[in-house]
Amino acid sequence: MTRRATAQAHPNIAFIKYWGNRDDRLRLPANPSLSMNLGALRTVATVTFLEEEGPDALILNGIRVEGPARDRVEAFLDHVREMAGFRGKAVVESRTDIPAGVGLASSAAAFAALAVAAAAALGLDLSERELSILARLGSGSACRSVPPGFVEWVAGDRHEDSYAYSIAPPEHWALWDVIAIVSEQHKAVSSSEGHRRAATSPLHALRVATAPERVARCREAIRRRDFESLAEIVETDAIWMHAVMMTSRPPLFYWEPATITVLQAVRRWRDEGLPVAFTLDAGPNVHVLCPREAADEVARRLEQVPGVQRVLTSGPGGGACRIPDS
Ligand code: PMV
Repeated sequence: MTRRATAQAHPNIAFIKYWGNRDDRLRLPANPSLSMNLGALRTVATVTFLEEEGPDALILNGIRVEGPARDRVEAFLDHVREMAGFRGKAVVESRTDIPAGVGLASSAAAFAALAVAAAAALGLDLSERELSILARLGSGSACRSVPPGFVEWVAGDRHEDSYAYSIAPPEHWALWDVIAIVSEQHKAVSSSEGHRRAATSPLHALRVATAPERVARCREAIRRRDFESLAEIVETDAIWMHAVMMTSRPPLFYWEPATITVLQAVRRWRDEGLPVAFTLDAGPNVHVLCPREAADEVARRLEQVPGVQRVLTSGPGGGACRIPDS
């Protein structure tokens, strides 16, 4: 019997951010969050389980990887092995077009694809909600890459209650993310470490307490396809998260000089009437949201901003799913 399956998943961009855990081990988030899957970027993972026991192997874009990245995958697969009552080692082959470790949610797509592939390979018949819960153990934001389109992560206070679900399918709104890449250097401090530091910021408690209200306003803006309301709430939330990062002990600065240049340009363009809004993850690159009609113009302008190295563009994407083995 071959225990092998392949799955694909897209990364997601958070409109209302997840930053800080109430339980680091289970990745139970301090607050609910909301995101959109990015259909133009994807990760494909093939998992093969063997009868023999031993260390798992991770092959990323054709290159054998050792160290913390492999250890994290193995720790994640231990959950799947435990659920299925299986002990054999796994070979994971993962291919992605997402630059890793630069705040483009590469781990979200990776663990969402891995959860779907590993569960299928071991014959586990899990619901979307169960797959979302499983993916969360690999990387918090991965739970949001399991359901399709626009997705909300219910914080929950127990393992079984912390999952993501789709609030609208990808076709609901042609909202585009034009990503200004200002640096492709691997970030110095991982988001796992950042989550641990969040609570050392005096702003953390206030950000967490007010997050449910921002999620509700964002959900409503998406429901009504109201770009102006979305722009306001998304920018506010991103600034809040970075304020927490900058006021943590020790502080975390993910921005580069070019980040500020892009943020200022986006605000100026909006004042001039172009429908644009920025958000940032745990990295210096700026995600510029806009209606699809404006995406070409936004990309053209971003390419001219000093410090922008290249621009990636994506509309909403589907959920994680099984695909044929290649
Ligand atoms: O899932 P993690 O641990 O990589 O955390 C991601 C955190 C942010 O990308 C900064 C925000 C978010 O909600 O995606």
